Amino acid sequence: MRKSEVKILVIHGPNLQLLGTRQPGVYGKQSLAAINRLLRQDAARTGARLTIVQSNHEGEIVDAIGKAKGAYQAIVINPAAYTHTSVAIRDAIEACGVPAIEVHLSNIYAREKFRQTSLIAPVCHGQVSGFGVLSYRLGLQAAIHAVKT
Ligand code: DQA
Repeated sequence: MRKSEVKILVIHGPNLQLLGTRQPGVYGKQSLAAINRLLRQDAARTGARLTIVQSNHEGEIVDAIGKAKGAYQAIVINPAAYTHTSVAIRDAIEACGVPAIEVHLSNIYAREKFRQTSLIAPVCHGQVSGFGVLSYRLGLQAAIHAVKT
């Protein structure tokens, strides 16, 4: 690994392991593995190194964020359903002090009322929502930008 390499933690929240078959009209046809491959290609091009985790468990996500300080310079997170419910993930991001970018495949503001509130966004650097896989790619670019500037 090059010393100057930017290390980024990518976190996929609950049910995202089902991408590809889960409501493809809403979340697209690409599998999580395909999305991760694209992100790794983007990262390699820009000199970033990714660690990618997916968890259906709130506590595991909190643990991963809690260990991020010192190990990663930025976090890209799709908290999935926890976006709308998790004070614990919000507090973990706020406490760890590592800049985080929130991403969503779908436009959460154009969906059901309960999805239109993110408890996570206020403690993030920014949010990308509604562009499918491009949301992740833009989120990754934003994370690298946040580190380098
Ligand atoms: C999601 C939107 C959430 O409301 C939902 O619970 C998800 C995926 C998205 O990427 O569009 O699981 O985060």
